[in-house]
This record gives sequence, structure tokens and C-alpha cells, in this order.
Amino acid sequence: MGLLEKYIKQCRKPSGGLGRFIGRSMNFGHSGIRCWGIGHVSIKPAGYILDVGCGGGKAVSELASSCPYGKVFGIDYSEDMVELSKKVNRKYIAKGIVEILHGSVSSLPFKDNFFDLVTAFETYYFWPDLINDLKEIKRVLKPGGKLLLVNEVYKDDKFEKRNSKWVEMLNMHYHSPGEYNEFLKKAGYHIVEINNNPKKNWIAAVAQK
Ligand SMILES: C[S@@+](CC[C@H](N)C(=O)[O-])C[C@H]1O[C@@H](n2cnc3c(N)ncnc32)[C@H](O)[C@@H]1O
Repeated sequence: MGLLEKYIKQCRKPSGGLGRFIGRSMNFGHSGIRCWGIGHVSIKPAGYILDVGCGGGKAVSELASSCPYGKVFGIDYSEDMVELSKKVNRKYIAKGIVEILHGSVSSLPFKDNFFDLVTAFETYYFWPDLINDLKEIKRVLKPGGKLLLVNEVYKDDKFEKRNSKWVEMLNMHYHSPGEYNEFLKKAGYHIVEINNNPKKNWIAAVAQK
């Protein structure tokens, strides 16, 4: 396996030294899309928020800075990302407003109706059972709570060629805006908005329980 392929394959579940490097790179490299994505929801200063597939933990810190009276949880199935996220968020963890957990989107260690907002940046492509995983997120959302899915790749003819090689390498599933609409509805959500940036091939979908 070449270095590029090794690097790309790590995005699915970053681990070891290379994984930690990738986690830190994503903290930096995803800042533009994170900022654009978060702009599609309002953050309650005393809200309860979960970031699924939190990777290097930068989204958790950014959410926590807007949520000083609430609590932000991050969860990731890579133990190395959990450790990195804990490091990146140590200031907020010490204040008691952030908690990072090891676990999968398919079985979230939270009670029903707990969160005001669940975010997922650049991770849904890898979930093992999309509809059931979205239903699991819906379970932990409060009635009226929102899910924000933000991704820097969506299915679009213009980008098909550019993306196809690494989409295949990562065995990731990705969708068109119309398909987001369908799968979110199938999982039982009301669609609030599906925004895409055709120049960048970015997408932010907001759905409500
Ligand atoms: C491409 S990285 C994105 C990380 C971070 N959200 C960001 O935007 O920088 C995908 C992350 O999702 C995590 N992940 C993938 N599948 C997961 C699952 N089934 N449950 C929990 N985390 C998962 C990976 O371990 C990885 O940290």
C-alpha cells in the first residue's frame, strides 16, 4: 500500500502515530467547513450537545466555547481519537463542560431524549448501518432537537471523477442532496434544511426529531 493510500485509509478510524497526526490535521483542515456547517444551527448557551465521530476534538472545543452553561460530549470508536480529543479539550474537561467517550454511533451510551443538538462532521460516510444509526441518534435527541450532518463531499456529477478514487479506497458511501432528504425522512426526521455549496461540494443537512 502506498503512503497516500495508507494516509487516506486512516480517515475511517485513525489510529497510532499516523492516526494522531491525521486527527490533528483534520482539526486544522476541517476548520472552514466546520465553521460553515455550525452556522446552520443555533447553539443554546445552556444546551446539551453531542459530536459523533469527534476525531481530534476541535468541533467539541468550538461548540463548548458557545455553550458555557451546558455540556458538550464527543464520542468516537477510535481509542486514539478519544485520547487526542481529551488532550485538545482538557481545559473544558477540567471545567466540567466537556466529556469525551469511546463508543460507536450504533449504540450511544446516553439516555433517551437527552440532547438539544447532535453534530456529525465528515463521519456519516463510514457508519455501518446508516438508517439505524440515524435512528439511534434520534433516540438520544430531545423532541424538537436537531441533527446537523456536515460533509465536504456529496454526490454531484461535477465532482464524481475527482472523488471516485478515494471514495473507493475508503469504501465510503456518499449521497446527493436529494438522497439526504430521503434517508433522513426514512430514519424518521423532519427536514429543516439541506444546504449545499456547489463550488466546494460541501453539504450541511439539518434535521429535527
Ligand atoms: C474523517 S474523520 C472526521 C473527524 C472529525 N469529525 C473532523 O471533522 O475532523 C471520521 C471520524 O469518525 C469516526 N467514526 C467512523 N465511524 C464511526 C462509528 N461507527 N462510530 C463512531 N465514530 C466513528 C472515526 O474514528 C474518525 O475519527
